Amino acid sequence: MEAPIGVIDSGVGGLTVVKELRNRLPHEPIVYIGDDARCPYGPRSAEEVIQFTVEMASALSKMDIKMLVVACNTATAVALDILKETFSFPIIGVIEPGARAALQASVTGEIVVLGTVGTVNSGAYSQAIRLLSPRASVFQLACPEFVPIVESGKYKTEEVGGTIQQTLQPLQELKFDTAILGCTHYPLLHDHIKAQLRNDVTIVSSAIETVHDVERTLMSEGLASLLDHPATPVFYTTGEVHEFQAIVSDWLEISEPIVKQIKL
Ligand code: DGL
Repeated sequence: MEAPIGVIDSGVGGLTVVKELRNRLPHEPIVYIGDDARCPYGPRSAEEVIQFTVEMASALSKMDIKMLVVACNTATAVALDILKETFSFPIIGVIEPGARAALQASVTGEIVVLGTVGTVNSGAYSQAIRLLSPRASVFQLACPEFVPIVESGKYKTEEVGGTIQQTLQPLQELKFDTAILGCTHYPLLHDHIKAQLRNDVTIVSSAIETVHDVERTLMSEGLASLLDHPATPVFYTTGEVHEFQAIVSDWLEISEPIVKQIKL
């Protein structure tokens, strides 16, 4: 049996990375854990996020994954180094790829980062962007209401528009040409967010760049799948199977996804 790529997130947000993985690398088997029962991670302490993230990585390690994608910015911000010290498989986070994607998109170097309270407080995006481009200017905005909207499955409804408008109000007077969706849940709110930004602002997420990193690592480590047919992903959630299944079906367009419950 082919070893899978493990993907983790606090909930359904990492599915935005899985979507790109399946587009670009359809033959790669994927096993996913969403810690929906303890989502959101954004308001939690770094210690808690580290503990929960290591728990998910340990569970996947027992499933013999060949690589881990930390498809959660909040977890990447505080736990990536610890994960790399703890596990021997290659581990890829989403912040460095997200920073790269933003710099590629930006002409003026004036970049807004939308993220969770944890990600914003960690300063990880500002650091990653400035490391790549010291003159870039970065404005970070925490959007704590966004993840609960996505987890509740209401991301397509009109009723959430007001909350999104209010949260993004501080951007009205700001000069910037690029906004990073610095939380993997936010691409599910893309259209709502776009409606609140000027037309000339480019919205980027880390998913595509992250998948490029995955592909490069699979090649350089000789880990690419040898399957000659598309692989079927397997999803685990610590929360409600049916709610998770509904979002997988909608976002990944899989009619009957394999979703199981897991205790960490
Ligand atoms: N999807 C996550 C992120 O990228 C976590 C959101 C949360 O649990 O607060 O930050």
